[in-house]
Amino acid sequence: MKFDVIRVSVVVIACQLALAQRFPSLQFTKPIRVCKEHQPLQTNVSTDPFACTKEQDLNSRVKDLDADKNIVQISQENGYLIDSYNVTTSDGYILTLFRISGGNKSPARKGKPAVLLLHGWGNSCEAWIALPNNKNIVYMLADGGWDVWLGNFRGSSFSLLHKTLNANKDLKYWDFTFHEMGLFDFPPMLDQVRTISGLDKIFVIGHSQGVSSFMVAASELPGINEKIHAAFLLAPVVYIGGAYDTFVPPLLSIINTPGEDLLYRIVQGRIQLRNPRLLFSALRIEPHDICQSQVLKCGLCDLNALIPNVFNPSQMNYTNIPRIVSKLPDYGTIKSALHYGQIVRSCSFRYYDRGTRENIKRYGTKEPPSYNLKRVKTPIFLYYAEQDAWVTPPDIQRLARALPSDTLIDVVRVNDDTFNHLDFVVARDANVLVYKPLIQMMIKFNNRIKTGV
Ligand SMILES: *[C@@H]1O[C@H](CO)[C@@H](O)[C@H](O)[C@H]1NC(C)=O
Ligand SMILES: *[C@@H]1O[C@H](CO)[C@@H](O)[C@H](O)[C@H]1NC(C)=O
Ligand SMILES: *[C@@H]1O[C@H](CO)[C@@H](O)[C@H](O)[C@H]1NC(C)=O
Repeated sequence: MKFDVIRVSVVVIACQLALAQRFPSLQFTKPIRVCKEHQPLQTNVSTDPFACTKEQDLNSRVKDLDADKNIVQISQENGYLIDSYNVTTSDGYILTLFRISGGNKSPARKGKPAVLLLHGWGNSCEAWIALPNNKNIVYMLADGGWDVWLGNFRGSSFSLLHKTLNANKDLKYWDFTFHEMGLFDFPPMLDQVRTISGLDKIFVIGHSQGVSSFMVAASELPGINEKIHAAFLLAPVVYIGGAYDTFVPPLLSIINTPGEDLLYRIVQGRIQLRNPRLLFSALRIEPHDICQSQVLKCGLCDLNALIPNVFNPSQMNYTNIPRIVSKLPDYGTIKSALHYGQIVRSCSFRYYDRGTRENIKRYGTKEPPSYNLKRVKTPIFLYYAEQDAWVTPPDIQRLARALPSDTLIDVVRVNDDTFNHLDFVVARDANVLVYKPLIQMMIKFNNRIKTGV
């Protein structure tokens, strides 16, 4: 079964209505949310309904030939050395790890500092190359002399294999959240990078859910911290009690109701966002046509209309949309989304809520235990966006207070009032606003530890 975002929203709302009829009291046994919703800073950016049409006049019929190629092809064609490795987790998931060890500007050699990139929810590692080759963080790092490793968590399209389960047939395959990604996927990826590169410690960059998983690992598996020089965390999804994204109310309406399990079963554990070609062919358009006027679907060009509050129209490169559409969406894991709904509702960063009886059995307490962020020892740099509708500025302040003070090195607000959650991987100026300063900070940190100061 193939589901797109719109169909899933319809299902969620239908579940909500059905459940409100059947279990009227369920919703109200706990407050619908504990934290107050954040009121975003007002900016004067107009969401111009004709932005798409105007852009199309400027760039008529631009076709990005890379849009349909995968990361291996794009890397090789541009002179980068890319290898892939299999990593098997202790619970049987087989993950793909890519390594870009060099390119024309910085040939592969031993001793480069290594950095492992962890992608977000609904993405694979290709989200990191959604921007053109000269502007995305992967090739910027590779050109700058870093040994770049790209993780792919379970349930993303490069990591769908399992020793015994079949992702297409076994619902059990999809029974995980960012918790399992942190406990079971991150550690062997980290060790693989250390083994192959021969380095004791490496750097980590995470975005969105990649950060949730990192935080689970760093707080639950203390030995992990000793293997990481520093972590640079973009749009860190940890505390999200202030979230005000359009998807939050429908999501909250099924949290802690039987609707959670119902949704999980209806969509078979995941939302297939990958291969939007299916959606396009249903609409009889090609990805490179979505900004063309003869396709009277111009609204599609402005993805903000599809996924409100996530993209920033003033930072959207409409010409790059075919590439964004082909690189950004992958498989979205339902249990992870439900876990996020639970932590929005409870205003905490804690284990999956399985209901009172199962919680007592598994955790020994009625309420799920919280992750203990005081155990995070890796030096942390946080980067956040003013208009992030999932991770709001007050939630960032809360995260900053929750981490040990000698662990938290810096909290950086992206210098643009309109910056948003996915802008960290799709904004046209992300290279200047985020990647350049981030890489500068990595270099500075690397120099500091090398000289032992
Ligand atoms: C937005 O516009 C209003 C009035 O036009 C002005 O007072 C305000 O300072 C502007 N805000 C920003 C952030 O530019
Ligand atoms: C990874 O495992 C898959 C399936 O077992 C196999 O087809 C592939 O060749 C392996 N790749 C590498 C790099 O070992
Ligand atoms: C916009 O995207 C196109 C296609 O990827 C690219 O060629 C162009 O350089 C980008 N423009 C900016 C300002 O990033």
